[in-house]
Amino acid sequence: MTAQDFILKSYQTTVENGSVKWESPSNIALVKYWGKKEHQIPENPSISFTLSNCKTITEVTFTKKESEGFSFDVFFEGIKNEAFKPKIQTFFKRIENYVPFLKEYHFKIETSNTFPHSSGIASSASGMSAIALCLMSIEQILTNYSTLDAPDGFYNSTYFKQKASFLARLGSGSACRSVEGTLVVWGNNNTFEGSSDLYGVKYEEEVHSNFQNYQDTILLVDKGEKQVSSTVGHQLMYGHPFAKERFAQAHDNLAKLKTILASGDLEAFVKIVESEALTLHAMMMTSMPYFILMKPNTLEIINKIWAYRLKTDSKVCFTLDAGANVHVLYPENEKASILEFIKTELVSYCQNGHYICDQIGLGANQIEF
Ligand code: DP6
Repeated sequence: MTAQDFILKSYQTTVENGSVKWESPSNIALVKYWGKKEHQIPENPSISFTLSNCKTITEVTFTKKESEGFSFDVFFEGIKNEAFKPKIQTFFKRIENYVPFLKEYHFKIETSNTFPHSSGIASSASGMSAIALCLMSIEQILTNYSTLDAPDGFYNSTYFKQKASFLARLGSGSACRSVEGTLVVWGNNNTFEGSSDLYGVKYEEEVHSNFQNYQDTILLVDKGEKQVSSTVGHQLMYGHPFAKERFAQAHDNLAKLKTILASGDLEAFVKIVESEALTLHAMMMTSMPYFILMKPNTLEIINKIWAYRLKTDSKVCFTLDAGANVHVLYPENEKASILEFIKTELVSYCQNGHYICDQIGLGANQIEF
């Protein structure tokens, strides 16, 4: 598929109004996306676990309008929210070419998260994918697919998800990995046939039962605004002294992970995942300007996890996004012992003792009225 294939060429103009609703999860990258080219094209491939409990629920109501330009209102948790508008305006501009009906309707976007807004958890992946899916449902209504003169198999559920992921990517890169589950690959690479820079692809390879219902407990170390937004962070990879090596390493780690996911080798899994998290932060520490996004408590938690692994035969490990919070990853059969470990040894490092229990999930769902 090329970007051209996602341009909607004809649609009905007689639909006056309607409403669609989707819930879409967050995801946590195992091999990290860090660095992008123009048009939200990643510098390196990434792979993530789709989450289950951390999600955004978005309803989009569309009403035919006469006026020119984009028109939309955003309501976050029932209250009109002006702060979210610029990001959505940018998103609309980027995707207008692919969903040309955007200027013909007024959109009421009502959204809420299952996780606290001020938790320091990025909501862009779940938020942008939820809107993208709503727009695809509207596209479906406006096109009445079957009547279109389209190539065979174009307007099926695969196309729907691919285009939703394609649009979501243009909102926020990592959002393209939230449409499906339980593992999604994004970015051209030689390991996975069919991989694309344009959208996330569901992982269809063999996955060992060790990874079934893999757990992710998110320790909220710092609930404040991130010091550096991801968008700014990605820019730091331009001219970064280690960029080339880092992008090559991501390809290597992806290939290694494929073998590990099939064999169920949890020790090897831990090494790749933790190394990826630390590399992401190392990139930020060695860019110009440089940043340290971990907090003292992030390091305390990492050291506790390492100490726990040494004294038990646990396969618990950590990963980080571009912030101070820690994702604690572990197999389902360790659920009871790790939750006990978290409660007794790690909760004290969380802001107000807060953490969120999640596990890998199957992807987004449409909510019927
Ligand atoms: C560290 O997807 O938030 O979480 O494309 O600029 O919206 P934009 O960035 P974003 O970057 C996420 C970076 C990361 C790693 C990852 O999720 O792969």
